[in-house]
Amino acid sequence: MKDKAQFVPKIEGNEISSFKTTWSAPSNIALVKYWGKKELQIPCNPSVSFTLDQCRTTTSVQFKSRTAHDHASLVVQYDGKPAPSFEPKVKTFIDRIRPYSPYLEDYDLQIDTVNSFPHSSGIASSASAMAALAAAIMDLEKQIYPSLTAEDQIKKCSFLARLGSGSAARSVEGPLVLWGEHTATPDSSDLFGVRWTKAADVFQTYRDTILLVDKGQKEVSSTVGHNLMHNHPFAENRFAQAKAHYQDLLAILENGDMNGFTDLVEREALSLHAMMLTSSPSYILMHPNTIQIIQKVRNFRKTTGLHLTFTLDAGANVHLLYPEHEAEQIGQFIESDLRQYCQDNELISDRVGTGLKKT
Ligand code: DP6
Repeated sequence: MKDKAQFVPKIEGNEISSFKTTWSAPSNIALVKYWGKKELQIPCNPSVSFTLDQCRTTTSVQFKSRTAHDHASLVVQYDGKPAPSFEPKVKTFIDRIRPYSPYLEDYDLQIDTVNSFPHSSGIASSASAMAALAAAIMDLEKQIYPSLTAEDQIKKCSFLARLGSGSAARSVEGPLVLWGEHTATPDSSDLFGVRWTKAADVFQTYRDTILLVDKGQKEVSSTVGHNLMHNHPFAENRFAQAKAHYQDLLAILENGDMNGFTDLVEREALSLHAMMLTSSPSYILMHPNTIQIIQKVRNFRKTTGLHLTFTLDAGANVHLLYPEHEAEQIGQFIESDLRQYCQDNELISDRVGTGLKKT
C-alpha cells in the first residue's frame, strides 16, 4: 500500500484567521463495484466509475479561528436551514481526517450544503457530499500551505473523501475514475481515486438516465452491506471476479467495445445484488419494477441492436447507460416504456462529467 504519511503536512503553514469557500462535487456510478472493505474504506477489490455531471452536492464552509472555547465548534445547515442531524456524521469525518489535517483543530466550522437532486430520491449523496466537504478543506489547506501543488491537492482531496465514504474517493475527478490497487494499473491506489483518460471517446460522453423506482431511504445501508461481506460464503470469489472484471472492463473501454461494456456492466450489477441475496441475513433491494425495467431493457436491445445498458447501485433505482449518439431513440423508449415504473414518474437525466468545481 502506498504511504499514508505523504498526506501529513510537514512544514510550518501561514496563519489564516478566516476563510470561506464553496465547492460542488458530483455523484458517480460504479461500473465495477466496490462491495466489501477493510477498516476505514480500504476496498477489497478495485473499482471503476463514471463521474456524473448533474447530480451534485454544493457545500460552503466558513472557517473561523477558534477563540475562547476548548473545542472547535461545528454547525451544519442544509439549504440554509439548520440540519443538526448531519452533524454527527460530519464530526466523525473530521475526527478521522484530523491526523492528516491537524490545522482543523484551530477552526470553528460553519457548513452549508445542498444537493442538486431531490433530497429523498434514493440516490446516494454520501459520495458527492464527502467529496465537496473534502474539497473545501483542501482549499483551506492550500491557503495555509501555498506550495501545495494542484495535483497533490486533488489527490489528498480524494484521500480525505475516502475516509468519509469509500465511493467518495471517486467523486473528485472525471470522466472515469479508478480506485483500488491492481497490477494492471500501477498508478491506482487503495487510498485515493485516480482519473483515467484512456477510454474511447464514445465512453467519455455516455448518458446516465436514473430511473427513480424507489425514492425512500434504503432498507439496508451500504455500511451494513459492506460488513455482510465479512464471512460471506462467496466473498473471495466475488473479489476475484471484480478484479478480473476491472481488467477486462478497462480493455473494453479503451477499445470502444459497447457490446462488451453491456455484457460486463450488467453482470457486475447483478453480481453485487447476488451478494445481498446470499448474505446472512439475506436481503433484497430490487423491487418488482426494477426487474420489469431490466427485462424491458434486454428486450429493447434484442429488437433494436442499440446499446442501452442497465446498472444498479445498492438500491432499487436503475441507472440506464447509453451512448450520446443513440440518445434520441433511447430517450423515446424511456418515455414510452420505462418512465411508468418510476415512483411519481420521476427520473434524472445525467451524463458523464468532469468532477469538482469551485463556485
Ligand atoms: C454499491 O461508498 O456508500 O454504490 O464506504 O461504507 O460509505 P461506505 O460505502 P459506499 O458504498 C458504495 C457501494 C456501491 C458500489 C460503488 O459505488 O462502488
